Amino acid sequence: GADARIESLIARMTVEEKVGQLSLYGPADTNIPGNPQAAQRNGQQEIDDVRAGRLTGLFNNEGLERKRVLQEVAVRESRLGIPLLYGADVIHGFRTIFPMPLAEAASWEPELAERTARAAAVEASADGFRWTFAPMVDIARDARWGRGIEGAGEDVYLANQFAAARVRGFQGSDLSRADSLLATPKHFAAYGAAEGGLDYAATDISERTLRQVYLPPFRAALDAGALSVMSAFNEISGIPSIANPALLTGVLRDEWKFKGFVVSDYTADEELIAHGYAADGRQAAKQSFLAGTDVSMQSGLYMRYLPELVASGEVPMARLDDAVRRVLWVKQKLGLFDQPLRGLDAAPQARADNPAHIALAREDARRSIVMLKNERAVLPLPKSGRKIALIGPFASGTQDLLGAWSLFPGQSAPVGIDEGLSAALADPGALAVVRGSGIDAPLAGGIEAAVAAARDADVVLLAIGESERMSGEARSRTDIGIPQAQQDLAEAVAATGKPVVVLLSNGRAMALKGAVRNADAILVTWFLGVQTGSAIADVVFGDFNPSGRLPVSFPQASGQVPFYYGQKRTGRPLPDNDQAMAFKTRYVDTTNQALYPFGHGIGYAPVRYDGMELSQDRLPLGGTLRVRATVTNTGQREAEEVVQLYAAERAASVTRPVRELKNFRKVRIEPGASKVVEFALRADDLQFIGRDMKPTVEPGEFDLWVAPSAAGGIRKSFALTRE
Ligand code: IFM
Repeated sequence: GADARIESLIARMTVEEKVGQLSLYGPADTNIPGNPQAAQRNGQQEIDDVRAGRLTGLFNNEGLERKRVLQEVAVRESRLGIPLLYGADVIHGFRTIFPMPLAEAASWEPELAERTARAAAVEASADGFRWTFAPMVDIARDARWGRGIEGAGEDVYLANQFAAARVRGFQGSDLSRADSLLATPKHFAAYGAAEGGLDYAATDISERTLRQVYLPPFRAALDAGALSVMSAFNEISGIPSIANPALLTGVLRDEWKFKGFVVSDYTADEELIAHGYAADGRQAAKQSFLAGTDVSMQSGLYMRYLPELVASGEVPMARLDDAVRRVLWVKQKLGLFDQPLRGLDAAPQARADNPAHIALAREDARRSIVMLKNERAVLPLPKSGRKIALIGPFASGTQDLLGAWSLFPGQSAPVGIDEGLSAALADPGALAVVRGSGIDAPLAGGIEAAVAAARDADVVLLAIGESERMSGEARSRTDIGIPQAQQDLAEAVAATGKPVVVLLSNGRAMALKGAVRNADAILVTWFLGVQTGSAIADVVFGDFNPSGRLPVSFPQASGQVPFYYGQKRTGRPLPDNDQAMAFKTRYVDTTNQALYPFGHGIGYAPVRYDGMELSQDRLPLGGTLRVRATVTNTGQREAEEVVQLYAAERAASVTRPVRELKNFRKVRIEPGASKVVEFALRADDLQFIGRDMKPTVEPGEFDLWVAPSAAGGIRKSFALTRE
């Protein structure tokens, strides 16, 4: 049987061959500027290592041909013929680049994320990859942190849905299929809680917060079948995650019964020295391996030190065998032992766009757009009879559309904003395009040209925001506002008095002020991928009614972050947000309310909520409550509304947030029609991490809201009772 094969291999393996299965590298001959830790390797070394069984696989290595050559060496020339596993950062597409994960989360349609992950898996596996370092499931509540763009935002419930959907999409129905990608929820754990939003910085959160907020999306990803996990760069309360036995062994293996393997982040084991946690590489290897990090990425530390650590008895052979068994078991599940060359022996195909994936990218992109405001119904614009000035550093060109992690060559060509808009216009001559400013520096004569174009137009589309290099890994910001040069541009353009529609490129929640905040309409367009321009045109001209909702709260000012809706109440909450009240939880210079709350977004048809009803006013433990509300489309066109269910317990043995999302449903409603939306709320949905650090449900009074966002809605209350 299959397990017998693995056990017989383990019985025959030398210690070096075992450690080989735990050693992973990026492609040879690449130099990562500013990353001297990364061991430099050449192609010959790579082949020699594969032949000697010193490598488990490679990652981010391009090209089918080289992958085939190395796999042939592995299975035909290495002593035991163990196949290699090729991994990659397939984060939001491979050839067809989809919206960044945070943007896609704004669709509030996990099934859409499942489809894009599936498409990415089909494309990446056609290039020989069977493993992705995704999904990133880190909750991000501090918008300064640049990597929030890679996740699903601030909320645990929403993140759980997206984590599971992405795993299902990447892995498909059966991991052994040629087009499945092994998924890797990352970064375990609490990487997004970095102090000050500074990437790689320490986190210092309680075990309760860890279990309540940061761990659930990992659990959701594993429940959906993910068989690898990446341990994180950051420390939590003094213990670096990569070497944290309570996390990697305690939670992952003992509590959750995880059967797959843990891979380190890039050189993270070696970084234990810089953390001041290990004195040297030998100790670093020992600490991370014993804690539960099975595979070492890039540092080479395991190969260097594990053999002697095993020989000296400091690392038990049983732990080595356990790690190897996990890796071989996953390789077997992927079908690599049975068909190691499958997908690699094909003649390299001429690269061609995949029309179905491009169409999906457009659908995904327009569903990711969030309309924050639309005063005097400035949008949608008619396709003819209006002169439009498209102004801003993002107006033209194909830079800054894809977002971080669009790594691999041969991508489908992106559609720029100007291109998308002019393709939709009856007379493309009605569109004037002016950059007006650089992203963070003025352009000589830019503002003058922009103002002239605005004066000459009926409406201005202002394409401003963050470049793709302002979010992503190691791209934290202290100020989450629009860069000054662009703010100046916005002020000058607004001063013409022309209606202004902001098209916001962003990788995080932003603090909007002045003319940007006061624009007539604001569309959050993130980094939308290959179909950016077409998707924006679909919304601007009304071919598509925007239906996205914010997965992150927009604060009033940068100084409020970390800023998220599910905050604690405090002993001195601010009644009615009356900022004039002293000695309350308030800032003296800004209100506590979000500028745009989590869950917010509007469409072209207004929607009204009423008629909330609960099936009973007492819910016994183990029971289910039915929550109903009527949602009415009071507009002229079909609405797509994300109806959200929030709950809060008034008093408990551990303080609880002001609200927590418990469920949501995206519904279509015909003009003038009403829909009754019903949720089933189980008592178990009201669990929290109790005094003993275990999930608990406590009887008490609860408030429930059926709402269009975390800040509004209609309310009813009920009592959770013992019986
Ligand atoms: O997968 C990534 C991770 O998210 C950040 N460090 C590098 C890894 C491999 O590229």
